[in-house]
Amino acid sequence: MPARAAAAAAAVALLLAVCAQAAALPRFAEAPEYRNGEGCPAAATAAAGVCDAGLVHISMTLDAHYLRGSMAAVYSLLKHASCPESLFFHFLAEEEEVGGGGDLRRAVAASFPSLRFEIYAFRAEAVAGLISASVRAALESPLNYARNHLADLLPRCVPRAIYLDSDVLAVDDVRRLWETRLPAAAVVAAPEYCHANFSRYFTPAFWSDPGLGRRVFAGRRRPPCYFNTGVMVIDLRRWRAGNYRHRIERWMEIQKEKRIYELGSLPPFLLVFAGEVEAVDHRWNQHGLGGDNVRGSCRPLHDGPVSLMHWSGKGKPWDRLDAGNPCPLDHTWKSYDLYVAGDDGAAASSPASRPALSSTSTTWPALVFSW
Ligand SMILES: *[C@@H]1O[C@H](CO)[C@@H](O)[C@H](O)[C@H]1NC(C)=O
Repeated sequence: MPARAAAAAAAVALLLAVCAQAAALPRFAEAPEYRNGEGCPAAATAAAGVCDAGLVHISMTLDAHYLRGSMAAVYSLLKHASCPESLFFHFLAEEEEVGGGGDLRRAVAASFPSLRFEIYAFRAEAVAGLISASVRAALESPLNYARNHLADLLPRCVPRAIYLDSDVLAVDDVRRLWETRLPAAAVVAAPEYCHANFSRYFTPAFWSDPGLGRRVFAGRRRPPCYFNTGVMVIDLRRWRAGNYRHRIERWMEIQKEKRIYELGSLPPFLLVFAGEVEAVDHRWNQHGLGGDNVRGSCRPLHDGPVSLMHWSGKGKPWDRLDAGNPCPLDHTWKSYDLYVAGDDGAAASSPASRPALSSTSTTWPALVFSW
């Protein structure tokens, strides 16, 4: 049966080739070189370790389909940092992608040869049993919940981290955000949106439950307001000491029994932290640039200064640019795009069907853009 064996071997080889093709990452250009300016922390040299004082720790998720957004975000952060060599990136990726021959690592290192970063394997099973169906399948992606595990995954010596979604661009020195003062009572700092109708993030069943509703937020530092979990400064030591992942997961357990919210990873964060977060200037999360989910219209920047632009919402700048239908602000994003359109079959870098990682990707635009 040598002929059949050969045919089988050929079929296997073809299958492997097809798999390798499917797994191939898009190609990215190398970012321009960057150097620390005057007055940067002396200890933060290329040889320094992750525990070095003086580093600015930034955490983002990383996955093949969203890589183009992550690459642009990293480039923008480096470009506008006064001390780019002092930035340390902590990337959270699903276990299979980390194990997949180190492709993600190679891609990041190829575009940013002197970038200081680590990739951590996030086990989707860690949240699989806790995720309940939400209004949109995209909001159920396990990687959306990786931010709950930051304090468990990052080294103990990292005292604080800035968490960022993959659809952001920094246009200011991120060290200013890093230096946000967190009073002793606060674990998380983020821009708050008190104009948003907070009630609408939870179901009528939640508000009418005598054990839940208003009672949940009684005694908080301030009245509860919506905040966006796509840009947060987190005190990891306080987070660990207070076991905040457990507190968030307790709400996810309650959600499985009683339907208390409709969105994905955001509401449990609000249940634990609304009214407790330290407010950060709105300039650090000019959100909603992804546009209106229903009408697909472009969103302008909100009034006031801009330090970080956030394409939250369903539309992504790379999809609109590829479709030849960009919004005005997508051209700003384009100037940070490292993607190299190739003829190697990798052009499908970011299918529009890909679940959005952004925490504000919601079918309720009025919720997010109510101001
Ligand atoms: C906020 O939303 C709730 C629930 O949808 C609604 O009953 C209430 O009237 C809204 N409040 C305001 C001020 O719009």
